[in-house]
Amino acid sequence: MSKQPTNTTTSTSAIERLRDEGLAALRGAASLEELAAAKSAHLGKKSPLALAQRGLGQLGPEERRQLGQAINAARAALEEAEAARRSELEAERDRSVLAAEAVDVTLPPRTPRRGSLHPVHETMDAMVDVFVGLGYRVVTGPEVESDWFNFEALNIPPDHPARSLMDTIYVRGLGSEADAYGVTDLLLRTHTSPVQARTMLAQPPPVYVVVPGRVYRSDVADATHLPAFHQIEGLAIDAALSFADLRGTLAELARNLLGPETRIRMRPHHFRFTEPSCEVDAWHDGRWIELLGAGMVHPNVLAHVGYDSAAVQGFAFGIGVERIAMLRHGITDIRLFVENDLRFLSAF
Ligand code: DAH
Repeated sequence: MSKQPTNTTTSTSAIERLRDEGLAALRGAASLEELAAAKSAHLGKKSPLALAQRGLGQLGPEERRQLGQAINAARAALEEAEAARRSELEAERDRSVLAAEAVDVTLPPRTPRRGSLHPVHETMDAMVDVFVGLGYRVVTGPEVESDWFNFEALNIPPDHPARSLMDTIYVRGLGSEADAYGVTDLLLRTHTSPVQARTMLAQPPPVYVVVPGRVYRSDVADATHLPAFHQIEGLAIDAALSFADLRGTLAELARNLLGPETRIRMRPHHFRFTEPSCEVDAWHDGRWIELLGAGMVHPNVLAHVGYDSAAVQGFAFGIGVERIAMLRHGITDIRLFVENDLRFLSAF
């Protein structure tokens, strides 16, 4: 006895109608999303075709064979149509993605403007590199410094006239009350030399250090002065260092900065923290140019930090960085370094 389920499609013409509806939906899908929806509606587990397939078991053998063939043919046609439409739509999508991501290599570039090192820092780096190559260590110290480190440790006692040469900017004035650490006078360091004492207090000899940093003087800015500028301090302390070592070291610096043929000369000078002291000039562009101050470290400086001046000695030097940067780049007004005019800065 065969019963007739209500929702089972039983005629081949009905199957063909389902096929045609499905083909129309699949072929007409305007996007991959629409195609997926049409596929699920016409080929999915709950599609009329799938339901018809499930109903086959209730039919007689001949009917089942005929209808089964029709269903299989319809399914094959739908699958083929789905695959064909899918490859069309995928190709379309790829084309539009490629178009959207296309790069016009003929357009002018819009790269951001590149920054560069400030010429003062570039010069400072170049000098520090020379000393690092000679085995020196790079150390730094505070810009707000105590009177003791800036002056006394360097053999410049209170009330010594040498102080008036340095136009010191005080942070807490002479004669004001001591703070919790007993410090009465704080100032903006007038040179990098206080880091000599800081370094020697922190370690036993031998010492080979360079100290790049900013220093301050109460100067009015003009073509050759700034109230804030940069120095590089050098300090070498060892068992047997001589004035000849100082000369060789500074000659090496000059050759690296100004060219391999550069000659230097040493002129007698006076600094409180070196004895003997000198100024060093380099022969550059047909004239002698002052490069820096230097000398053999004064025994009083060694004594202040507890070094035995009978056992060790050494030399020190101090270089104005802006001055060297001006030489290297042919700049005649030091104020250009702080005006931050991009036309000037981007020339380097
Ligand atoms: N501190 C000195 C200044 O600012 C420069 C100087 C000279 C430093 C001689 C030194 C030195 O270490 O030995 O003018």
